[in-house]
Amino acid sequence: MPNPFTLGVASGEPLPDGVILWTRLTGLSRAADVQWQVAEDDRFAKVIRQGVARAQPAWAHSVHVKVEGLRAATDYFYRFRSGGELSPAGRTRTAPGPTSTQPVRFAAANCQRFEHGWYTAYRHLADERPDVVFHLGDYIYEYARPAHGVRRVDPADETTTLAGYRARYASYRSDPDLRAAHAAAPWVPVWDDHEVMDNYHGRGDGSDRFLRRRAAAYQAYYEHMPLRVRPRDGGLQMYRRRTYGVIADFMALDVRQFRGPATMLGAEQEAWLLARLAATPVRWRVLVQSLFFTRRFVPGPAPNLRKESWDGQPEQRARLLAAVPQNLVVLSGDVHNAWAGDIVTGAGVTVGAEFVGSAITSNPPVTDGPGVLAANPHLRYFDAHRGYLSGTASATDFRVAFRGVDHVDRKGAPVRTLAEFVTEGRGIRRVDV
Ligand SMILES: [Fe+2]
Repeated sequence: MPNPFTLGVASGEPLPDGVILWTRLTGLSRAADVQWQVAEDDRFAKVIRQGVARAQPAWAHSVHVKVEGLRAATDYFYRFRSGGELSPAGRTRTAPGPTSTQPVRFAAANCQRFEHGWYTAYRHLADERPDVVFHLGDYIYEYARPAHGVRRVDPADETTTLAGYRARYASYRSDPDLRAAHAAAPWVPVWDDHEVMDNYHGRGDGSDRFLRRRAAAYQAYYEHMPLRVRPRDGGLQMYRRRTYGVIADFMALDVRQFRGPATMLGAEQEAWLLARLAATPVRWRVLVQSLFFTRRFVPGPAPNLRKESWDGQPEQRARLLAAVPQNLVVLSGDVHNAWAGDIVTGAGVTVGAEFVGSAITSNPPVTDGPGVLAANPHLRYFDAHRGYLSGTASATDFRVAFRGVDHVDRKGAPVRTLAEFVTEGRGIRRVDV
């Protein structure tokens, strides 16, 4: 049997006492036993947990191991074995305990259309070994393979079936830099639209055809991510919080599954979020989600707001802002350019900061960055490089560096910090110049 661990290993959903370990075996038809190990060292001399999981064909031979009883804020190493073959080893890290004041180092990535380039940015992200990696959506794109691209994605057709989505994730994971980023740190991913279909909302047109497609897409997403919960009844519980001591509450949002004409989040998710925003005792309330959050007026011949983003739900956005006096941070993606700005309420009070990551690879639209900056005084930064966010939240401040590469059409681009911002809880200040 050839080595079945071609899609790599991953971990995610860190808690103070545990993480989820993930792998998916390839080349198998029947169910198989998979041994797993967690060690204190990367040579696996001090194995402290081990067990056996079952890889089932019904779940594409994916394995999700819930490891418990670990120490808080601690690095661990893990690997799998099956049929005499060993997986690569991964490094993970638990969250700190509930009273910890330790800073948290994170990275955030989004928008990685395979045909648009190489995942060089992920190699640099992996080298940073952050405490946690957030993915802000568009992990895959469902589109058919284009006539021209930097590289060829599989399958050739638009993905609409379980087999199609599974093959698309496998194609993305053929990239060693993406596998390295998963093996370097625990992930907390959220999705946007392209994990299912361009610009879908909620239950789409409500047809059986769309709901079957959505269920297939959600199942394939689960099968390729280190998530704590399985899909059920065609849905998947995605909104959740991951808390890092008294420093940061990362609230991962689902802006697609429950979306309707008058709501981005749906009533239940909004109630959950409002309650937590108001009650959390931590220093930083961080929304981890895909869509541009603050107002972005785009001037031009047809002046407009982009209604696909939060500008399409200003009432719901206002309710969220009313729940937070200050110290709000929003991490966003989706627009394929980098932005940073202040979050200002309708009454003119600055309550936080938004950082928008550009894209790992996805091509930018033709955007008049300077024109949009001039038309929106609360927006303070625009940049068109591919890259990711690298940040630190601490008791004193919240820092975000925009990390960028100069090209993705060829391998090997170095990374550099394009700009760095800091906030104490009421707007941003540039610190790299
Ligand atoms: Fe995207």
